[in-house]
Amino acid sequence: TRKIIIDTDPGIDDAMAILFAFQCSELEVLGLTTTYGNVPVEISTKNAITLTEIAGVNVPVAQGVAVPSVIAPRPFPDFVHGKDGFGDINYPDPKGSAHALSAAEFIIEQVKAHPGEVTIVALGPLGNLGKALELAPEIADLVDEVVLMGGAAKEYGNVSPVAEANIINDPHAADKVFTAPWQVTMIGLDVTHQVCLGNDVLERIRAKNPSQGGFLYDCAQFYINFYSDRFNMDGCYFHDASTIAYVLDPSIFEVELGAVRVACEGIAMGQTIFRPEGVSYPEPHWDNMPVTQVCMEVDGERMLKLFEDKLSA
Ligand code: BDR
Ligand code: CA
Repeated sequence: TRKIIIDTDPGIDDAMAILFAFQCSELEVLGLTTTYGNVPVEISTKNAITLTEIAGVNVPVAQGVAVPSVIAPRPFPDFVHGKDGFGDINYPDPKGSAHALSAAEFIIEQVKAHPGEVTIVALGPLGNLGKALELAPEIADLVDEVVLMGGAAKEYGNVSPVAEANIINDPHAADKVFTAPWQVTMIGLDVTHQVCLGNDVLERIRAKNPSQGGFLYDCAQFYINFYSDRFNMDGCYFHDASTIAYVLDPSIFEVELGAVRVACEGIAMGQTIFRPEGVSYPEPHWDNMPVTQVCMEVDGERMLKLFEDKLSA
């Protein structure tokens, strides 16, 4: 089994990713760490605990940062995920409470306890990872891989023409993550915009796994309505859950290798700039940068089948 920590801002598609991960015997989820993003961090934490209770798993939830590391906070996108982050379905509060450690402390503790074995799956703004790197830069060598949903290398952004939501929510932390000496795999809009999850899949999951499938179906209606109003789509993009599919079976994706840097201010704030391996520029911003794996293509049918099969079991 592969040990993972999921850093998250649940969030409807975060909920899909987390319940998907809990259903995979190939994965051992060491903990969920929370951040602001889709909702304020206190709601993320509450929602993450709710998801462990829906899945019936005993997984710690450590609360993380409430605001970006440098820039001013952005408004919460309640028109995408609802005020409660679950599509305003009025789900009852969970019974459990958060872990004593902060998200960054929890990440550091677990990575040091399992050197070389932990994959961090990041589904929200990257402040907790940035903070963990600040507090304990040595963890970069000890992490197996960072698989993050965020950014757009060749595709347009979803918050500005160049910026994706998770990255623009803390561009400084994101640049820190992309330039640290660990293996990062970026799953951005280049691939998540290739896949549309429709109600047909969610209805089949609900029929086979009513508790989790019913919950996901109920939350997803608000999200799917947003995509229908905004983009005339019949379903929603498959953002956060793509990371779990990648961890289970990377052969579903095609990657390109290169450096990624993040524009931290101005009109391009939040843009993930991709410099392919082998191309060199005189600008020092690109010297000695780690090689990121950037997902550019995905087999959407295989990915949706994996999601459906795991959640239906
Ligand atoms: C990302 O932003 C959030 O709204 C989603 O949960 C996802 O992590 C997509 O841009
Ligand atoms: Ca998210």
